[in-house]
Amino acid sequence: MRILIANGPNLSQLGHREPDVYGTATIADIVAGIREIHDDVEELTTEYEGALIERLHATRTDGTAAVVLNPGALTHYSYALRDAVTLLDVPVVEVHLSQTAAREPFRHHSVISAVVDVTITGAGAYGYELAVLAARRLVAARGA
Ligand code: DQA
Repeated sequence: MRILIANGPNLSQLGHREPDVYGTATIADIVAGIREIHDDVEELTTEYEGALIERLHATRTDGTAAVVLNPGALTHYSYALRDAVTLLDVPVVEVHLSQTAAREPFRHHSVISAVVDVTITGAGAYGYELAVLAARRLVAARGA
């Protein structure tokens, strides 16, 4: 069961990006941790909204079973990304390292949450593990 972990702008900078907010783990560290619990993981981390959208479109035909998505700041304003998520056939779990509801007001609203299956916020890097577990459950439930 292949799970795509897709990360948007500035998540490539984890490790030295505001470590008090996001922790010290890099995306490579986080993905390595995921691969200990789930061996079929593909990762895309990109600064580009269009690249993220194109990769999501590809999941419709490439055998991806579920998507774990941290859109970064696109979370708060990208209707293009929201539309791309809407047309997917596979489960999508939105994840945020930080507790966005406790931060600046512009981070309180996600335009993505209404079109995903599950949202996990504020659990730090562990949130990605929770997201993968949720994604697996969702895939299993759809197959039942
Ligand atoms: C984030 C929260 C967003 O508000 C922010 O723009 C990010 C990271 C998180 O993982 O907590 O880039 O998605």
